[in-house]
Amino acid sequence: MTIQWFPGHMAKARREVTEKLKLVDIIFELIDARIPYSSRNPMIDEIIHHKPRLVLLNKADMADQEVTKEWISFFAGQGFRSLAVNAQAGEGLKEIVQVSKEILQEKFDRLKAKGVKPRAIRAMIVGIPNSGKSTLINRLVKRNIAKTGNTPGVTRSQQWIKVGKEMELLDTPGILWPKFEDQEVGMKLAITGAIKDTLLNLQDLAVYALKFLEREYPERLKERYKFSEIPDDLVALFDHIGTLRGCLTGGAMVDYDKVAELVIREIRSQKFGRLSFERPIDLQTKEMNR
Ligand code: G4P
Repeated sequence: MTIQWFPGHMAKARREVTEKLKLVDIIFELIDARIPYSSRNPMIDEIIHHKPRLVLLNKADMADQEVTKEWISFFAGQGFRSLAVNAQAGEGLKEIVQVSKEILQEKFDRLKAKGVKPRAIRAMIVGIPNSGKSTLINRLVKRNIAKTGNTPGVTRSQQWIKVGKEMELLDTPGILWPKFEDQEVGMKLAITGAIKDTLLNLQDLAVYALKFLEREYPERLKERYKFSEIPDDLVALFDHIGTLRGCLTGGAMVDYDKVAELVIREIRSQKFGRLSFERPIDLQTKEMNR
């Protein structure tokens, strides 16, 4: 799904999330473990304010485990609990309820002291398109999607779905926009498939991806495309891959678009293994280190 984000759409998305904030105890901020910075909404702190939050690094099965650990420490340093999850396979999901309880312990203790009867934790998922929101909801509710029906004070279309006995989840996630002003962020969103019908030039994207692999995972690049040395010259780099893989035009010349498509497809389908496209240390030059 490709969403065109115009100012009006952003304002509406923000309004919708802000409205629902009142209904929940905790927000699950879903991001892509491969690009934890680039897959966050740029205004998330402003939108969520002080509402308790659990950051979920989804698609952790595709990210470099060591780098994911660095991100979890990074978020801890920012005051956020975070968990690495794989919504598709349902890994790491059990901890979501437990950690949410820990985050909300004080609030629930306070309510209890006031004589309020214990109730299930109310939660909502927010994230940019393709971060895995629907997959996570489906996994959390398993097969037995038990809708608790309309709850007073909730918009009629809102439904709460039960996640075990201890949690209720809003059935519609909050969809927020990515940081698309930054070209590098755009590249990372495209490589990870967050932006499907990319408006970026395919060859530019492949160059970016190959340079990234050369810098961060040179051995994997050499092995996959049988380089003894990775050439500095981009034409030589594309020619080598194109010849090796038969990405040729009718006239037996290397077809650079085909090479670009191949490289991007192979990265997305994990032919280079688990890849993380950014590390917390990269943020020293970014405005996010707040
Ligand atoms: P959204 O609601 O936030 O827009 O995302 P959605 O759940 O539709 O997930 C987007 C794609 O990401 C889906 O692939 C989904 O299967 C995949 N996905 C979600 N969570 C995980 C995860 O933890 N690990 C992995 N490996 N994949 C995950 P899809 O429908 O097949 O779309 P696509 O493959 O064409 O991108």
